[in-house]
Amino acid sequence: KEIKIFAPATVANLSCGFDVLGCCLDSVGDEMTIRKNDLKKVRITKISGQDLPMETDKNVAGVAVLSLLDHLNENQGFDIEIDKRIKPGSGIGSSAASSAGAVFAVNKLLGEPLKHKELVQFAMKGEFLASGNAHADNVAPALLGGFNLVRSYEPLEIVSLPTPHELRMVVLHPLIEIKTRDSRAIIKQNVSLKKAINQWGNLAAFVSALYTEDYALMGRSLKDEIVEPVRSILIPFFEELEKISSEQGALGFGISGSGPSVFAMCKGDEVAAEVYKSFKKFYSSKEIEFDIHVSEIN
Ligand code: HSE
Repeated sequence: KEIKIFAPATVANLSCGFDVLGCCLDSVGDEMTIRKNDLKKVRITKISGQDLPMETDKNVAGVAVLSLLDHLNENQGFDIEIDKRIKPGSGIGSSAASSAGAVFAVNKLLGEPLKHKELVQFAMKGEFLASGNAHADNVAPALLGGFNLVRSYEPLEIVSLPTPHELRMVVLHPLIEIKTRDSRAIIKQNVSLKKAINQWGNLAAFVSALYTEDYALMGRSLKDEIVEPVRSILIPFFEELEKISSEQGALGFGISGSGPSVFAMCKGDEVAAEVYKSFKKFYSSKEIEFDIHVSEIN
């Protein structure tokens, strides 16, 4: 009748895969409790940690669950409690965690009528509410774990990729809020053929490197000439962090989702610890508050 879940944070885009690539972090996330009610209504009964809409149709988790129930032609009611630990507007899939967590839990309480991959399309409704765009690169990894690729949006096709076990993510979150809606609005709508060639070369190589566990190739492929040059302007000390990350031996560095969080992908705990220490030291000397953590990908 009741289920308690961990709804994980995620890193979308990973530089080379804007809107199509993302991975799941295993140490940061929300806690959610979902239970059946006898009211035939979906209610957001409690949100702690953040100030977010309690109206079902204005809450990303509420909207995602309503669309799932509608699809299933199901009139069972549910109460949703969210202990929000991921800050909205942080760039690590805050809305995705709530949307994905809610549909996962409801599906489970209904006896799993749908497979996890089939839940992605309903979680995407929450993303649409949050940002005006139904991208799947956060909700797919939040639901399926590890690395995931969106091969196509219409029709939706998600491809789960392998997760090399030595990968670590250092995620630094400067405590300024960037709304996905706003950071999508500044992206140019047209891409030159030259840049497109570089981008699909990098994305294909990154996917190949996940299969062959070629860490050096992963690092060389974590590049973005299309979106990052525009968005990075909004992130304080982006270039300095990039330099530190490469000096400390990270494989690659980029914006997490739509920012302002940035990630440094590292091989092994030792390199991750060095990058973590150096980022912390550098940012502590600036007048910006921040959160920082190291996570495995799972
Ligand atoms: N792919 C999306 C974007 C992810 O970059 O706008 C948002 O978290």
